[in-house]
Amino acid sequence: MIENKIAVIGTGTMGCGIAQIAAQNGFQVVLYDSDPEKIQGGLVTIKKNLERLVSKGELSQESARASISRISHIDTLEGLQDSFLIIEAIIEDREEKNKLFKQLSTHCGGQTILASNTSSIPITEIASNTSHPENVIGLHFMNPVPLMHGVEIIRGLKTSEDTYYKTQKFVRNLLKEPIYSSDRAGFVINRMLMPFINEAITIVGEGTSTIEDVDKGAMHCLNHSMGPLVLSDLIGNDTTHHILSVLENELGERFKPAPLLTRMVEAGLYGNKCGVGFYLWKQNKPQKVNHDLERYLKME
Ligand SMILES: NC(=O)c1ccc[n+]([C@@H]2O[C@H](COP(=O)([O-])OP(=O)(O)OC[C@H]3O[C@@H](n4cnc5c(N)ncnc54)[C@H](O)[C@@H]3O)[C@@H](O)[C@H]2O)c1
Repeated sequence: MIENKIAVIGTGTMGCGIAQIAAQNGFQVVLYDSDPEKIQGGLVTIKKNLERLVSKGELSQESARASISRISHIDTLEGLQDSFLIIEAIIEDREEKNKLFKQLSTHCGGQTILASNTSSIPITEIASNTSHPENVIGLHFMNPVPLMHGVEIIRGLKTSEDTYYKTQKFVRNLLKEPIYSSDRAGFVINRMLMPFINEAITIVGEGTSTIEDVDKGAMHCLNHSMGPLVLSDLIGNDTTHHILSVLENELGERFKPAPLLTRMVEAGLYGNKCGVGFYLWKQNKPQKVNHDLERYLKME
């Protein structure tokens, strides 16, 4: 096992960010994705992100080149044995994650830490698929990974002190701040954030204020860097709905998704990812308020 080598499984939005930041901080990183094209796409994204940092004067050309040289990829899970830490960042699908951890358990020895970037699936459940649940932990990075300073570390019921300590050390080596959570729905951050977003949607849905004023209120009166509705569009209104439902399931009625959010998900108004939500989106930026939605709200 190599002390400074990690593996990242799933090279989508989160996996690429995690790989980039780990490589920038001196870790050898091996990438794996079930879709080989996603690995190639991921490598291109990481290179572009590093080049952008160089052009902004935030990273030297030499450091960018060294970071890229630390990243490799594999075609099968068999190539994972020598990583001390494996971070899973595949799609948020219970069955897929459980299946993957079963496979990882057969490919890795009793020393490897298996971390999941899940936003909502209990770590204790994921760990139950492995023969060493004491080595399994939640490592919940925030999006976009290179910019967001905090990382939640979630201890499952059987996670050992040693696994927790080593994971905390890893997060600090990435120059990030570990935030502790036990294995409860929504962990810490979504448990605080989701009721806030849900209430903002309720306020708009019941006609107390407008989409723009709710977002402006959060920015100008609460000093948030963006409003809760634009944020929900960015997260994906379907994802917001999913996380709220998970919270409601475990913690009760107070997390029930706002009726307007449910209607928007039914209508496919997911936000940035499809171009329409509370706002109309282009190139990852909100262009203007969704006037069709506002008209619908006035009719209600
Ligand atoms: N996107 C966010 O804002 C965000 C924030 C925090 C946590 N998360 C969590 O991070 C995880 C990844 O999210 P994402 O947004 O990066 O997803 P994504 O859809 O961008 O990427 C997922 C990747 O996983 C790959 N994949 C799917 N099944 C696989 C398997 N069985 N084996 C290997 N690769 C597989 C896909 O090909 C894809 O490249 C999810 O658990 C999500 O809940 C996401």
